[in-house]
Amino acid sequence: MTSKQLRRKYIEFFKRKGHVEIPSASLIPENDPSVLFTTAGMHPLVPFLMGEKHPAGRRLVNSQKCVRTDDIDEVGDKCHHTFFEMLGHWSLGDPASPDGVGQDGYFKKEAIEMSYEFLTQELGLDPNRLAFSVFKGDEDAPRDEEAASVWKSLGVPESRIAYLDKKENWWEPAGESGPCGPDTEMFYWADNQSPAPEKFDPKDERWVEIGNDVLMQYEKAGQGKYRPAKQKNIDNGTGLERLLSVMNNLDDDYQTDLFLPIINKIEELSSKKYDASKGAENVRSMRIIADHLRAATFIMGDDLGIAPSNVDQGYVVRKLIRRAVRHGRMIGIQENFTHKIGEVVINLMKDVYPELERNKKFVLDNLQMEEEKFTRTLQQGLRRFGKVIKKYSNKVIKGEDAFNLFQTYGFPLELTKELAKEKGLEVDEKGFEQEFKKHQELSRTAAAGRFKGGLAGQSKQVIKYHTATHLLLAALRKVLGDHVSQKGSNITEERLRFDFSHPEKLTEEQKQEVEKLVNEWIEKDLPVSWQEMPLNEAKDLGATGVFENKYGDKVKVYTIGSGDYVVSREICGGPHVDRTGVLGNFKIKKEESSSAGVRRIKAVLE
Ligand code: ALA
Repeated sequence: MTSKQLRRKYIEFFKRKGHVEIPSASLIPENDPSVLFTTAGMHPLVPFLMGEKHPAGRRLVNSQKCVRTDDIDEVGDKCHHTFFEMLGHWSLGDPASPDGVGQDGYFKKEAIEMSYEFLTQELGLDPNRLAFSVFKGDEDAPRDEEAASVWKSLGVPESRIAYLDKKENWWEPAGESGPCGPDTEMFYWADNQSPAPEKFDPKDERWVEIGNDVLMQYEKAGQGKYRPAKQKNIDNGTGLERLLSVMNNLDDDYQTDLFLPIINKIEELSSKKYDASKGAENVRSMRIIADHLRAATFIMGDDLGIAPSNVDQGYVVRKLIRRAVRHGRMIGIQENFTHKIGEVVINLMKDVYPELERNKKFVLDNLQMEEEKFTRTLQQGLRRFGKVIKKYSNKVIKGEDAFNLFQTYGFPLELTKELAKEKGLEVDEKGFEQEFKKHQELSRTAAAGRFKGGLAGQSKQVIKYHTATHLLLAALRKVLGDHVSQKGSNITEERLRFDFSHPEKLTEEQKQEVEKLVNEWIEKDLPVSWQEMPLNEAKDLGATGVFENKYGDKVKVYTIGSGDYVVSREICGGPHVDRTGVLGNFKIKKEESSSAGVRRIKAVLE
């Protein structure tokens, strides 16, 4: 079975079960300051899991692009990836809830029955090779006998159900708030040499996880506390790469059609074979190259113009490319090669993710430039590293030395850590961070701890900035003209950042006028409301916003103002404040160029 077939099989199956297919959201969360990347299919859906109405209804399905960097050190084995695709389906709401929220949704029983039918009927997996885990219960939530009994009602023997603790069978996003709950995971006996044992031992790695139903019945209430959720949800996540291996009886994701053309190109460039039985180091390097350049290509190919840099997502891209380059040199690739791999990735995936083709030149140019830049200092840096480690035997490399390798030779910390590990040394990461902070402009990201996965719910301040962003766009269009459209938006607790199309620098007067307008609208305490309507109607009403890639034909339109005094109408998922009066004073802090024909404003609410 090919990856294309499997992706469609999943989506079509759940469409037949009443789900509406929605496009993959961007890999870079638009208005969530707590994370750099979309880490799970549920991530872009958090507002809807918390009760906002989704224009496509209560049953959704898609294949979502995800990046997780927490396990980056594990990449090199057969199943860890920084970029991956998560097949997912959701039910927003439970028809059995007392207030009747979610008439068209479903909860535990239906979710588990559907998952079982998908695995055994649709994919034809042998029920004798399946096992399941459920939550064993603790002081926060009871043992999930309900989930276990549904599995049993489908014929699953008791011995194939394991009860596990919160570490294993509980899913929640990072941060203070957000939807969460126990989950139930599905495992497949992937070893073809021996029959599946009667008893399910979750520690035996031959049982591989192929799916996860999160049974969202709680919300985080801060300080490690939980409260019952107003809206119960189902959040299913199914890793495409892993399932594809299973479907093809392979025990190495890199042998599936998602990776093989990339591996073949690396073989050709290095004149080495990908042969796991010999030279494990070459195989590891090849996997790292394939994984990292696939991830870098997807991040840069995501329409937002993320290029290698020393901050935020750009820094992750830089780390990925540089690590791939070093592994390339290790297996004997001397020429510049990363753009050649990028091209293979784009050709392989562009049918499913057309944005890759749109951004092809940007991606390949940046791969080439970054590799050239790093190649200039790599040799010297490695010599320097050799000198540095002479000072240490069996000890920890000082933060200062690691920082020097970063600053002078462009060695990301992870690279120095990896080199150190190869020599049996460690790096003082705290010391590195301290040096980092001293050198301010280098990266605020690492200091803010934003490399971690997960996400926080949207805080009040973030929601305020979100509404302020709508006002800003409306003011810019009024002052500069209707050619102004949104090119990007990023919000943190401290500020908003907004990219928009406009050919030249704003004058002092224009900036003041924009500021004045926004503040006038805030002072008027205008109501903020939303309405659902067909896309065409939204266009006719003159709503701004991104029209492509919208869910189904219905969209949510947010209006600021009312009656004959409407200042902004924008297609948007929300959430927003109820009235503009709560926003405070709006101030533009900076106006600068972002890229050709695109300006960037940073602004705060005081
Ligand atoms: N959100 C769940 C996961 O990532 C499905 O496993």
